[in-house]
Amino acid sequence: MRANIQVAATEEEWIHLAVKTITNQATQAIQNRGFFSLVLSGGNTPKPVYQALASDYIQAMFDWSKWFIFWGDERCVPPNDDESNFRMAKLAFLDQTTIPQKNIHRMMGEIDPINAAQLYEEEINKFFLKKEKRFDTILLGVGNDGHTASLFPGVNALQEKKHWVSISQHPDSGMKRITLTYPAINQSRNIIFLVKGSEKSNVIADIINNPNNDPHYPAKGITGKENPPEWIIDTAAAGKLKI
Ligand code: 6PG
Repeated sequence: MRANIQVAATEEEWIHLAVKTITNQATQAIQNRGFFSLVLSGGNTPKPVYQALASDYIQAMFDWSKWFIFWGDERCVPPNDDESNFRMAKLAFLDQTTIPQKNIHRMMGEIDPINAAQLYEEEINKFFLKKEKRFDTILLGVGNDGHTASLFPGVNALQEKKHWVSISQHPDSGMKRITLTYPAINQSRNIIFLVKGSEKSNVIADIINNPNNDPHYPAKGITGKENPPEWIIDTAAAGKLKI
């Protein structure tokens, strides 16, 4: 996998690299097209980055009405559930900004997953009606099994070549998920993997150093149509990487 890799020695540096990369891409997008479409990832890792994006210093940098927020995946739970990716980002980031509510495009985890996936695809198509259909930046995490978004090993969504939104299921908990698919993710102008922790070091080394070998972790399918993915990782996650 062609990849740009930024390794941070401390949590503070990791957050700084992530915020700097995201805000640079936001500035570029707004200069070139007048808006910035950002796809948020879920799980635990990105939370401090979201909190840093909500800092006064960053708040002063942007006209937040030009930011448009989407999600890469969502658990099929209500938006106020502790498991909700929307809830995590709302509390850590969105509630501290002046991003208009109409700019926040939530996946509806509380309704039937197939219906939610269809509605979200319609919402994406409506957003890009008079624009080139591609997100500016998508944030992704990686699970210990090499999944990204909710593209878990073996799920049917991995085979989706046309639709941008599909359904999935967590392999252990069985929890239904809504997820963007490879066509949606790889079409993004910029893809940023945010990964921390030694428990991810084996899977990160395999994804980056052996992109075409088995096991074919789902994250290996994230190649990026325009730019190779940007990896922002800490030294622990980079521990087994041959750079
Ligand atoms: C989710 C995420 C998922 C996450 C990875 C890593 O809904 O859980 O979208 O893809 O990024 O599972 O999760 P952690 O950051 O919590 O390790």
